[in-house]
Amino acid sequence: MKPNPQAVRVCRLDDRQPGDGLLADALSGLSRSPKRLPSKYFYDARGSELFERICEQPEYYPTRTEIAIMRDHVGEIAAALGPDVRLVEYGSGSGLKTRLLLRNLESPVAYVPVEISRSALAESVAKLEREFPRIEMLPVCADFTQPIKLPRAARAPRQTVVYFPGSTLGNFAPDDALRLLREMRNEAGQGGGALPGGILIGIDLDKESAVLEAAYNDAAGVTAEFTLNLLVRMNHELGADFDLGAFRHRARWHPLAGRIETHIVSRREQDVHIDGRAFHFGAGEAMRVELSCKYTLEGFARFAARAGLRVAGVWTDPARQFSVQWLACE
Ligand code: AVJ
Repeated sequence: MKPNPQAVRVCRLDDRQPGDGLLADALSGLSRSPKRLPSKYFYDARGSELFERICEQPEYYPTRTEIAIMRDHVGEIAAALGPDVRLVEYGSGSGLKTRLLLRNLESPVAYVPVEISRSALAESVAKLEREFPRIEMLPVCADFTQPIKLPRAARAPRQTVVYFPGSTLGNFAPDDALRLLREMRNEAGQGGGALPGGILIGIDLDKESAVLEAAYNDAAGVTAEFTLNLLVRMNHELGADFDLGAFRHRARWHPLAGRIETHIVSRREQDVHIDGRAFHFGAGEAMRVELSCKYTLEGFARFAARAGLRVAGVWTDPARQFSVQWLACE
């Protein structure tokens, strides 16, 4: 296949590794009380692999359910988005849902995946290029929580659609989630199309605590390994000296906040060293590493409205565990 010169240029321009912020964020996050770390650092090559394995665990319903919704309704979803779309995806992952979408869209103009894990990005684009040789591929290896200038398509799109599957929005606290929605709205609005565009987003729904807690505490321990991989990563990349056996994973549902909170808990009193600095952990001290906010359909519609977005389509599974929503720019 002939190489896409623009895609190559974007990758070369962006030589900064998204992981470069890890040291600064680890030092500041471990200096706070309570301690915390941003969950985006889960996704190095090993972390992305572990996340794929989480998706295969029987307790982890979101991925499986979202894929089923896409399978059952992709015709209707593609019709709602219309022809000649420039599709921007935030956190492209392994690309199965994307493939379903690209197969059903009418003559999409370009696909612009924005992904923090270089290996995950390269792998998914390599697969997609083979299946969709006529769609311009413009991969960008970047942290989508930072301002980024995304590449325009060679052919003029009818509209830009930002695809944000996986309920990844749930990993952001409300203020950050709102900021992100507004940024995606701007990208949709200014992506070079004739129409104002919109966002196709996967949103996990509020449900029984037992189902939620099981999903984030799978019996095989894959989620625990995923969480603790953060410590492995800091040991490798920052020369930190976390004793892996001295920390454990904990994920709990907080009904009032409507979210799962994941912590890394110190099993004993200990000091950890990073970059010549010592950080003290008390026995049982917990460092917050992830939020997974769950929404009601009504609550999310109100939230989207605050970002200037109108819910123009909602698709759910029969048990209403998960939703795929089409948000139109107002
Ligand atoms: C990245 C949002 C799909 O919060 O459910 C899975 C990440 N963390 N198990 C989520 C995750 C622990 C996941 N998403």
